[in-house]
Amino acid sequence: MKFFVDTADVGDIRELAATGLLDGVTTNPSLIAKSGRDFIEVISEICEIVPGPVSAEVAAMEADAMIVEGRKLAAIADNVAVKLPLTMDGLKACRTISEDGTSVNVTLCFSPAQALLAAKAGADYISPFVGRLDDIGQNGMHLIDDIRTIYDNYPDLGGTQILVASIRSPAHVVEAAKLGADVCTIPPSVIKQLVQHPLTDKGLDGFMKDWAKTGQSI
Ligand code: E4P
Repeated sequence: MKFFVDTADVGDIRELAATGLLDGVTTNPSLIAKSGRDFIEVISEICEIVPGPVSAEVAAMEADAMIVEGRKLAAIADNVAVKLPLTMDGLKACRTISEDGTSVNVTLCFSPAQALLAAKAGADYISPFVGRLDDIGQNGMHLIDDIRTIYDNYPDLGGTQILVASIRSPAHVVEAAKLGADVCTIPPSVIKQLVQHPLTDKGLDGFMKDWAKTGQSI
């Protein structure tokens, strides 16, 4: 499974990239607003830090305007993935931008039918938002399971990768991995939680105390 980080904070991206665990980055208009940075400038900087795909989202609502914006974003760097919303206009733009040879991430997916359409439109990635489904009392992971089943039934759909988004906890990442999702895009705080276990800390503390008693060094 690939790990993307879901942020436009360059400091966090640099820190996580240094771990060697990062395969890509996703941003959205809310994350860009939170960064307080110029959109084009920050995407360009992120693309230099992380060689993997960096999702940059269009702001237009109509297909032709999405295509214009998507091509501008694609020109920033070879590793930009243009992010398009799951609307009929977004799907039309997805077809054209994919045919340009640019990677497309179709975002705001909340149903298996939407995911099927994105694959038919040639998307490289489909982003189902599991946390936002959980927030309204549904089960986001059921959506991942359904999409996995559908995509596996039709290998000739084109290999759209399931990019699990709106992740809130390490449990989401583990469940996504068990279901065979291709990618998780994870907030920095949750990536840091993934490594933590109290028994690891306790065990390490015991080992270090006993090691000190030996008086040795390596
Ligand atoms: C995905 O690409 C989105 O940026 C993101 O995962 C949305 O998550 P949220 O529901 O926490 O805003």
